[in-house]
Amino acid sequence: MNCNKDKTNKELNLYFDNSATSWPKPDVVYRAAELQMRKMCGNPGRSGHTRTLETDRLIYRTREALAALFNVDDPSRIIFALNATDAINIALKGFLKAGNHVIFTALEHNSVLRPLGSLRRDGWITTTMIPSTPEGHPDLQFLENAYRPQTSLLVINHASNVIGTVTPLREMIKSAHQRGVKVLVDAAQTAGALPIDLKETDIDLLAFTGHKSLLGPTGTGGLYVKAGIDLKPLREGGTGSQSELDLHPESMPERLEAGTLNSAGLAGLLEGINFIRETGLDQIRKHEMALRRLLRDQLLESPQVVVYGPEEADECAGSLSFTIKGTDCGEIGYILERNYGILCRTGLHCAPLAHQAIGTFPGGTVRLSPGFFTSPADIMYLVNAVRDIAALTGRE
Ligand code: ALA
Repeated sequence: MNCNKDKTNKELNLYFDNSATSWPKPDVVYRAAELQMRKMCGNPGRSGHTRTLETDRLIYRTREALAALFNVDDPSRIIFALNATDAINIALKGFLKAGNHVIFTALEHNSVLRPLGSLRRDGWITTTMIPSTPEGHPDLQFLENAYRPQTSLLVINHASNVIGTVTPLREMIKSAHQRGVKVLVDAAQTAGALPIDLKETDIDLLAFTGHKSLLGPTGTGGLYVKAGIDLKPLREGGTGSQSELDLHPESMPERLEAGTLNSAGLAGLLEGINFIRETGLDQIRKHEMALRRLLRDQLLESPQVVVYGPEEADECAGSLSFTIKGTDCGEIGYILERNYGILCRTGLHCAPLAHQAIGTFPGGTVRLSPGFFTSPADIMYLVNAVRDIAALTGRE
């Protein structure tokens, strides 16, 4: 439980914003990042001294841990990036060619919408959005009719960062592959929270972040690139390898990684992944689904509260959104922190189309995202706070 009863409510810092970044991290994550900076700091792949070799090994172990988590045989197909947005930019700008058509879902985050928007504005690509139900389920019949001869890519948000709805990946990937269309999956909200098996689910490009459900530090993330897919590098420069060449190396992972990697962050990320594997992803998932059920059921007991997204917890990951009828979301978030010490995210959550789909645009919602370290008692404290606010400000 991350709620300290000895403090006043205001000081509680009860964290319900794990969809933005997870907190707390397991202690081993903090320790590993600090140790890397204090004792092991060396530039991987550059000099030949002990510390650079150790750092190189650490980075390779992190790649291997991710490969094991996602069931990938060749760790060199996983490249490191700053976060999911960075990985998505590397994927989109490295894959798309002039004249391509891209299909994406209404649940996409601005990390997808904005790069696609600028490529479209500049006349490089055309796009089609698959509409979704208010529960966040994509219209699969619409998808069937959306393909064009120029369609090269389908972009799928694995789970909404607004309402948590998990997208039917296999069905959509099958549909795209039948037409020779590749698939980019944004796993920002699911890597580390839901099982992702890249042998079972034939994803071509998978973008993930390290600082959410993988429990690592910010500034970490990456992209899986299926063998046979060649992305034009977004960044070129030093890799420590083939320094005689005046062009960026072609071999993976260097092809898509330039400059010094975030070794302190990756040291923390490795421990985050180890923590997940030792705890058991299924145990983490079970705990988070139970919290979500409790949260949803309890919130719905207030007649002034509207909860968004699917009823069933197993159709969702992480985020749950609500509004109080007649009350501004920003005000609810402000009162939750000021009066109750509860931290959450309000507004549009960088996903305006998802809010249009669920009917909360432009006002947005209050988003609650419990995590593995949240307890049922934390949920009840939060629910009582929301009930107080609803009784004071809401209308039925
Ligand atoms: N994508 C993150 C969120 O949903 C930052 O809050």
